[in-house]
Amino acid sequence: MRTSYLTFGAPLIEEDEIREVEATLRSGWIGTGPRVARFQEEFRSYLGVPHAVATNSGSSALHLSLLMAGVGPGDEVITTAHTFCATVNAIIHTGAKPVLVDVDRDTQNIDPEKLKGAATKRTRAILPVHFAGRPCDMDAILDIAREHGAYVINDAAHAIEAEWKGVKIGRLGDASCFSFYVTKNITTIEGGMISTPHEKWAQTAKIYALHGLTADAWKRFSDDGFKHYEVTVPGFKYNMTDVEAAVGLCQLARIEHWAARRREIWQRYNEAFADLPLFVPAPEQEGTVHARHLYTVLIDIDTIGTSRDKVQSELHKRRIGTGVHYTALHHHRFYQRKLGVCEGQFPNTEFIAARTLSLPFSPKLSDEDVGDVIEAVREVVGRRRPQETEP
Ligand SMILES: Cc1ncc(COP(=O)(O)O)c(C=O)c1O
Repeated sequence: MRTSYLTFGAPLIEEDEIREVEATLRSGWIGTGPRVARFQEEFRSYLGVPHAVATNSGSSALHLSLLMAGVGPGDEVITTAHTFCATVNAIIHTGAKPVLVDVDRDTQNIDPEKLKGAATKRTRAILPVHFAGRPCDMDAILDIAREHGAYVINDAAHAIEAEWKGVKIGRLGDASCFSFYVTKNITTIEGGMISTPHEKWAQTAKIYALHGLTADAWKRFSDDGFKHYEVTVPGFKYNMTDVEAAVGLCQLARIEHWAARRREIWQRYNEAFADLPLFVPAPEQEGTVHARHLYTVLIDIDTIGTSRDKVQSELHKRRIGTGVHYTALHHHRFYQRKLGVCEGQFPNTEFIAARTLSLPFSPKLSDEDVGDVIEAVREVVGRRRPQETEP
């Protein structure tokens, strides 16, 4: 048994980040400034997109993108029930109605047929979630959006590196929203980014992200001299800081190296779990790149005769931290009341929600850590047989 606890989603912070943060703190400019500008530019160039706008979270990136699309009261925005609450909260904050649809059981991404069935003349935007880093079927989504005159705004919180037919997800649709939360493929501690082909959206998003001011603080107070500003809209405080960007710049430089390490761990898990009563993630679809953000298995609870929560707590006892992605949105009472959704409406989401378990999966894991996870999972899941069912 391990002596230390293996925290789920622990970020890999190296000496470079510490040095860069220190340099930023000593520089006299710690708010939104030159490092944010550089991070935006390097992220933009990594994706190969015309514009990138840094924000203080993936959630604010989603909110701003929906506002740029003009989404508001009377509109509908389609997304899935199998996502983090931030996706649907961003829609609610615009005053529009979230329309939830089910996912495909294998890919865990939006089911294009269900999406088609949910689109109406009020559909202003489609918000596909590229779950765990697996790209959604962008051909189908873009076709349906075109047919209905709707915008496509990607929830790409998990999908920085993801590609659909040779094109990064961040280059498809009208905007993509990324998260740099601590557990994500790269982190800024808290932070996010919008990528968009629309120059006007990028300009306006920057203004909305900083109170609606015509000039940002760097321009107002930098060594160019003080500049007066004007408020053009009642904006938000959604800007990233230079301290966060300092971390992000170092992390972005290692993104492909880390992707290769995650690929290795993924393969090792797949091989080690092949004979267990659980379902490993569906294989990468040909012609796509899976960003491999989460390694989620579906515990075969019918075969092992115990719940996912019990498996999770047994792993915890063995000092292995895990995650649940996600409790289905319609299992939260708030959304049941707010959106009128209920159990039985999204069978695939429900199937996944009862069985899903995300294992430790990050470039921070040593080979030994990976071995510990495998040993613990084999012990907890592998030794359970139907006759051992819980009372
Ligand atoms: C699918 C999804 N969407 C949106 C978000 C929100 O990102 P953030 O935590 O940076 O606000 C997250 C992050 O946790 C996420 O996993």
